[in-house]
Amino acid sequence: MTQHVTIVEVGPRDGLQNEKQSVDVSTKVELIERLAHAGMKSVEGGAFVSPKWVPQMAASDEVMSKVKREKGVSYPVLTPNMKGFEGARAVNADTVAVFGAASESFSQKNINCSIEESIERFKPVIEAAKSDGIRVRGYVSCVLGCPYEGNVSPAAVVPVAKALFDMGCYEISLGDTIGVGTPEETRALIRAVAGAVPVRALAGHFHDTYGQALANIWAAVDEGVRVFDSSVSGLGGCPYAKGASGNVASEDVAYSLERSGFATGVDLDALIKTSIWISEILGRKPGSKVTLARQSA
Ligand code: HMG
Ligand code: MG
Repeated sequence: MTQHVTIVEVGPRDGLQNEKQSVDVSTKVELIERLAHAGMKSVEGGAFVSPKWVPQMAASDEVMSKVKREKGVSYPVLTPNMKGFEGARAVNADTVAVFGAASESFSQKNINCSIEESIERFKPVIEAAKSDGIRVRGYVSCVLGCPYEGNVSPAAVVPVAKALFDMGCYEISLGDTIGVGTPEETRALIRAVAGAVPVRALAGHFHDTYGQALANIWAAVDEGVRVFDSSVSGLGGCPYAKGASGNVASEDVAYSLERSGFATGVDLDALIKTSIWISEILGRKPGSKVTLARQSA
């Protein structure tokens, strides 16, 4: 029987949040719509965060109001606190995401509070979302390394992932924010977290800074993970993790999984066209090996 893997497209948020040049609202709207047309069942649309902290996400309300939403597709947005949640609710977000970290220093630099304080801030967001019928995804950053503290052990990730899951997040996305982890480390991480959170509720979110992301995805697949975050054309990075490169490219993930017998529902040709289109707008080469290979074929 064919096994399914869900790809959560995070390019319009994780990708564009780190762009030096500002990308206008109509381009963001078109990007999100193209990705949904390409078969992505979840397209992260933006972030309701402080525009002083992440200016590139400032118009997320306008973007979310303009996107023509497809039936059966979810459009999560990041909401670090109640102010963010109110913004997301005002644009009828179907899914919101809270984002914590496994490292204290990263938590402070990214959301200006400790890990414990962040969990307290997420509680009312999750409660309000539940009563409004809005789903909540939970992120844990720095699961395989921190730009400020170096190595991060699975023991630091487990309690944060468990707390988010126990509070009601339907899925916990484990983020290798700076893309340093290797397959063996990924395996050990998933095994440890799966002892506290059902593996069906785990997602892998790998940045490709050290070129390990696709190998890490396969290690996670072997451990039973069936949801992965990626960015079209490998867009992205993280504004609070200097040097972090983009997420693994969605085209590369879809190609590798599909050719190995996993159904993703993604239309690779449409995705490649979108990758070329957004790369041209950003004035750069696509950051996907698959797209580059197709272009030169
Ligand atoms: P703070 O300064 O501690 O917040 O920031 P505050 O509550 O003290 O408020 C200060 C000001 O911010 C006030 O405005 C608030 O109204 C405003 P003022 O009165 O000074 O004019 N404010 C907000 N404005 C808009 N939206 C909001 C909001 N909240 C307060 N939601 C805060 C705390 C969390 C807001 C800030 O640190 C922040 O916005 N951080 C965002 C960081 C971020 O977006 N990082 C990137 C996403 S995470 C990531 O990329 C990792 C991930 O991809 C996974 C991985 O790779 O590991 C998910
Ligand atoms: Mg990320």
